[in-house]
Amino acid sequence: MTDTTAINDCISIERTGDVALICIDNPPVNATGQAVRQGLQDAIERLSAEGSARAIAIYAAGRTFVAGADIREFGKPFVPPALPDVFNIIEASKIPVISVLHGTALGGGLELALSTHARIGIEGLKVGLPEILLGLLPGAGGTQRLPRLTGIPFALEMILSGRQVRADEALKAGIIDRLEAGDPREVALKAAQDVVAGSLKTRRTDQIATVPDDAALTETADKLRKTHAHLFSPHKCVEAVAASTKPLSEGLAIERAAFMECMDTPQRSGLIHAFFGERAVSNIPEAKGPAREIAHVGVIGGGTMGSGIATACLLAGLKVTLIEVKQDGLDRGIATISGNLDGAVKRGKLKAEKRDATQAMLTPSLDMQALADVDLVIEAVFEDMAVKKDIFGKLDTICKAGAILASNTSYLDVDEIAASTSRPQDVIGLHFFSPAHVMRLLEIVVADKTAPDVIASGFALAKKLGKVGVRAGVCDGFIGNRILAHYSKTASYLVLDGATPQQVDRALEGFGFAMGPHKVGDLAGLDIGWMTRKRKAANRDPNERYAGAVADRICEEGWFGRKTGRGYYVYEGRDISPNPAVETFIAEEREKAGISPRSFTDQEIVDRYMTAMIVEAARVVEDGTAKRPLDVDMVFLFGYGFPRHRGGPLHYADTIGAAALVDRIKAYAAEDATYWQVPALLEKMAVNGTSFADMNKEA
Ligand code: 3HC
Repeated sequence: MTDTTAINDCISIERTGDVALICIDNPPVNATGQAVRQGLQDAIERLSAEGSARAIAIYAAGRTFVAGADIREFGKPFVPPALPDVFNIIEASKIPVISVLHGTALGGGLELALSTHARIGIEGLKVGLPEILLGLLPGAGGTQRLPRLTGIPFALEMILSGRQVRADEALKAGIIDRLEAGDPREVALKAAQDVVAGSLKTRRTDQIATVPDDAALTETADKLRKTHAHLFSPHKCVEAVAASTKPLSEGLAIERAAFMECMDTPQRSGLIHAFFGERAVSNIPEAKGPAREIAHVGVIGGGTMGSGIATACLLAGLKVTLIEVKQDGLDRGIATISGNLDGAVKRGKLKAEKRDATQAMLTPSLDMQALADVDLVIEAVFEDMAVKKDIFGKLDTICKAGAILASNTSYLDVDEIAASTSRPQDVIGLHFFSPAHVMRLLEIVVADKTAPDVIASGFALAKKLGKVGVRAGVCDGFIGNRILAHYSKTASYLVLDGATPQQVDRALEGFGFAMGPHKVGDLAGLDIGWMTRKRKAANRDPNERYAGAVADRICEEGWFGRKTGRGYYVYEGRDISPNPAVETFIAEEREKAGISPRSFTDQEIVDRYMTAMIVEAARVVEDGTAKRPLDVDMVFLFGYGFPRHRGGPLHYADTIGAAALVDRIKAYAAEDATYWQVPALLEKMAVNGTSFADMNKEA
């Protein structure tokens, strides 16, 4: 006989024969919000009080087992019961409790499973403790119970990487006890009956002793001090895992204290902003209607960008036709794509056995007529409006009706490009970042007449390519490059005024950027900025201080950075050292401009650089180029190496506050009133006491 009781909206008990099943049903991912925590506690207590069930199996409804604590509750007032307490109650249950896991058992979800007395995985399961990716540590027993099952080295690696472990590996590591196929409820029922029959053994995790491994702990802690000095939670993870050799209650107390410390950090807030921002960017009301089917993509241009885009499409399983004007260009494109695919195999992004079949999806051609049947064309030729207009005019006559015509331009006017066709509704900007098969950002540039379903198709493509699509409006440089063009001047001004390029780089690396701006310039090629400065020379505001003096001198020597062996730095094999000639250029340019150099602290450098970034980012939001502050943040996290734990420039701006920023800009304006101007939006926010987070909520 079966009897079902709803404990609350999320938890129900099904009693069948001498076993009971507890079902967790909290869509979309069964996160352990307050109702789930309370419901689980009540269910276990009720079944214990009844005493009739001889085994209890916990499983979840829907697409996945529990994906962790409810992240939306973080930073809000806490409502008990606490997750560790619920799990202690489960572990202490006199009636054996087992769990059946399908989909993903992550964070608090895996910790729930670890507190049960046996775990059954359903094929396809992945388990993980991804808290570190949110600036946290597993705070509901993960750092204590996992090492008891797997040993310290495995637990450390899993917790510090935050990676998802596949079912077969989880079985081998001792995280799950069995791997089965089937529907979670059916598997749960059978497993509970097996417990009663004695054919599935159960044991309490807290009664297993962690095998001590001081060497692994010390080695990991030492390594982290070098590689993750600026992050807080990784070090706390090691401390907590070290406590797993103590009795469970003591270890849990140490884990809890460390978890609460992590919870209070701005790093946690930045990383959680990044988590939700990544998901929110594609929520664009103007992207309406079903996306158009994209199975076959045409890419025009076999240079670095075009080949990277073609590679990204091939890796996503799309057919690609690559167009070049001359055979040698086409051959170079094919060779680049081939090398990219080899690299993808090495990085584990493509299975070796699929490599050749993937390349076989590529059709190279010198004839644009080969694009007649493609669903989407991405033009990636050099940045010349006349050339682009000519190409789009041709595409208009060649491509089938309904094909999407996209330009990978990084700053040109997409409206003007669209106007060279008779179908501007089908034209959109798809701005990839180099290397296009690696970088996750895709700016989706919406022109005046772009159709809503073409916008939706841009976002669908981003998803298919595993990229983060961000909607941008038409303007010179869209979101990212426009903001970059503004704040990168600050780095040059700082150098002209007294800092060295190395100090500027070091200060910003200390802030969390993987590389300072001068190293990035050397890597990207200083010739790019040089060309842009020449292009913009005629329209430069005569009152604006010229930022390119030193970079121009470097480029005039034919030094374009890494690719020429010299730029701001000299590159010899693996060695990097400051380029001594640059020091001379700086001194000469200072003298020409009548500047007596002064000193800057690293903090002053960071403040000026970040304030300049925030200023232009605020303008981009103000004029609608970005619809929401979070769009700017995601552009910088996924395209510009902005430190993820800082959440993005506008999330970071909120940590300073609009009023303080306005004061700062006004102080800088005393030195240079042309460059440092307070954006109207920031002024308004300072007066009203509002934040960029408020704007994100309203949007
Ligand atoms: N809390 C609240 N909401 C969550 C959530 C969570 N833990 N995990 C996912 N969601 C939400 C997403 O925001 C999204 O909402 P939306 O539809 O409104 O945008 C929805 O669930 C679906 O998520 P995805 O779009 O990411 O769906 P996928 O199928 O691509 O991925 C997933 C599913 C693998 C579970 C992925 O969502 C994920 O990795 N989630 C986070 C897991 C995590 O970090 N868990 C640890 C939490 S911290 C913790 O447990 C602390 C503990 O130790 C005390």
